[in-house]
Parts: sequence; C-alpha cells; structure tokens
Amino acid sequence: MRTLIALVIASLLALAAIAIAQPTVPNLPFHDSLRGTTPIGEETRAPLLAPTENKDVIRGLNYAQQPPTIPHKIDNYQLDKNANRCLACHARSRVEESGAVPVAVSHYMDREGMVSGHLSPRRYFCTQCHVPQADTKPLVGNTFVAVEDIKRQPASKNQKR
Ligand code: HEC
Ligand code: HEC
Repeated sequence: MRTLIALVIASLLALAAIAIAQPTVPNLPFHDSLRGTTPIGEETRAPLLAPTENKDVIRGLNYAQQPPTIPHKIDNYQLDKNANRCLACHARSRVEESGAVPVAVSHYMDREGMVSGHLSPRRYFCTQCHVPQADTKPLVGNTFVAVEDIKRQPASKNQKR
C-alpha cells in the first residue's frame, strides 16, 4: 500500500514538472490569411466576390493530367441531372458549330478504360474538376517551381551539398 501511495505521489510530481517545463508561447498578434486580424470570436466582413475572368484565352496547364481551367464565365449554365449546358457546346458532336474545345477522349472511358459512344457518367458534372478563375491576390505565398524551370537553372543552384 505504501509503495502504491509513493508511486502515485511520484508520478503526480513528475506530471507537475512536465507542466512547468512547457515552453511559453509568445503572444503574437493574431493573423490568418482569410480572417486577417479579426479575432476568432468576431465576424469578419466578407470580401467582395471577384469577377470571373472571361478572356476566352486558353491558359495552358501547370502539370500533366491537370483538368484545364475554364477561360469563360459559366454563370447560369444549367448543370444538374436534367440538363448539362456545358455539353451543348463541348460535346464532340457540337464543337463544329460552337467552336469549343471538344471534351477529352478520356471523358468517354469507363474506369476499366473502355471507350463508349457516350460521355462517361463519372465525367458528367464538369465543375467537379473544371473551374473558372478570378484574378485575385493569392491568400498564401507559393514558391513552387516547375521541374522545367529547375532544369533550366545552372547546376550549382539546385545541387545543394
Ligand atoms: C456557349 C458555348 C459554351 C458553353 C455553354 C460552355 N463552354 Fe467551355 N468553352 C467554350 C469555348 C468557345 C471555349 C474555347 C475558349 C473560349 O473561347 O472561351 C471553351 C473553353 C473551355 C475550357 C478550356 C479547355 C482547354 O483546353 O483549356 C474548359 C475547361 C471549358 N470550356 C469548360 C466548360 C464547362 C465546365 C462548361 C459548363 C459549366 C462550359 N465550358 C460551357 C464554349 C462553351
Ligand atoms: C473527374 C474529373 C473531370 C470531370 C468530371 C470532367 N473533366 Fe474534363 N478533363 C479532366 C482532365 C483531368 C482533363 C485533362 C486530361 C485529359 O485530357 O483527360 C480534362 C480535359 C478536358 C478538356 C480539354 C480537352 C483537350 O483536348 O484539351 C475539356 C474541353 C473538358 N475536359 C471539358 C469537360 C466537360 C465539358 C465536362 C463535363 C461534361 C468535363 N470536362 C468533366 C477532368 C474532368
């Protein structure tokens, strides 16, 4: 019994020591990329919605297999189980009159890679993968460098040893 009490006291003391040893977190002013300096308990003023970029210029891809971003407005285009406005222009049978880029062949394949004559159901809701863009200031910084750009740099720069 005595040893048990001693053990309990010892472990309590050990816990207290850990609690005391906690480093003190410096009290930095609160800042969040979305909320700014508004404290968590208060409501922020919502930023204005940025206008959708509508330049009709294809943007190119940042990586292989990226779903291309939409270079035009899609406001009020019906896209639900009853109708798909995107296909009215982008279906392979429609592109001659619409001048739109035909949906990729991959969109006609099922998950086994079999190509069929109609759009694959898993590609029906286009905006799952394709999104319009707005010209806004990024919320967080980004130092991403594409592999092509790394290859172009002199060797000394990317071989840190
Ligand atoms: C009125 C016809 C029309 C409709 C409707 C339409 N688009 Fe487009 N889309 C175009 C045309 C034309 C282009 C070629 C670039 C341009 O002129 O904007 C294009 C370009 C695109 C591109 C870029 C393709 C690439 O290779 O970079 C994507 C992605 C796209 N549209 C997706 C959509 C989605 C998703 C919808 C439905 C929400 C939609 N579009 C509805 C006509 C249309
Ligand atoms: C599950 C994700 C996904 C969905 C859903 C989807 N796409 Fe795509 N789309 C992609 C990817 C990834 C690519 C680029 C790679 C490729 O060609 O398959 C692409 C490519 C495209 C392209 C460019 C084709 C080219 O030759 O450059 C167009 C246009 C397009 N999609 C339109 C659509 C439309 C319209 C819909 C809805 C009917 C749709 N996509 C649904 C992922 C998707």
